[in-house]
Amino acid sequence: KRIVIFASGSGSNAENLIKFFHNSDNATVIQVLTNNPHAKVLDRCKNLNVSALSFNRVAFSKSKDVLNLLKSSQPDLIVLAGFLWKFPGFILDEYKDKVINIHPALLPKFGGKGMYGMHVHEAVIANNETETGITIHYVNENYDEGAIIFQAKCEVETMDTAEDIAAKIHDLEMKHFPKVVEKLLGAEALEVPN
Ligand code: GRF
Repeated sequence: KRIVIFASGSGSNAENLIKFFHNSDNATVIQVLTNNPHAKVLDRCKNLNVSALSFNRVAFSKSKDVLNLLKSSQPDLIVLAGFLWKFPGFILDEYKDKVINIHPALLPKFGGKGMYGMHVHEAVIANNETETGITIHYVNENYDEGAIIFQAKCEVETMDTAEDIAAKIHDLEMKHFPKVVEKLLGAEALEVPN
């Protein structure tokens, strides 16, 4: 099975997925695409020997260059891992139920425009939440609103800073994301915990 990842930033999730599927007979990350030509994810891909390309707004949302690229890559699953642009409907139409995202909170809370990175964890603290977590969900045309596939939780302690929460979320992402992707691809070598 073929996985294409979209990422805009650091790419720790992309790297984790690439490494996990290096050891898999069933699936592989064939390509990473980014809207940010300076994203750290590009360095990671270089070191990991995975093809990576950056694209601009026109290629993504207007000219269909990115769609055509995807058509030639023939992904079984498109994984958004820290990708910040809204996915155009004409791409989603081609890959129905094949585009998933990971969000660093327990949706439907703390999702939507502006809810990314540290903003999410700061909002969690401001709202006095006692728990937070990760959500893996299908992507539709609205930010963070597609059907939920998987969630995992962690505690928010009274003294936790946004950085503390980010570290807990990072651990959850590293632990669960590849397994959920593997399960979705039907290569059930590992159990996905509920
Ligand atoms: C992750 O926390 C993910 O949940 C969110 O963006 C972050 C990406 O981090 N959507 P990285 O670029 O994978 O390190």
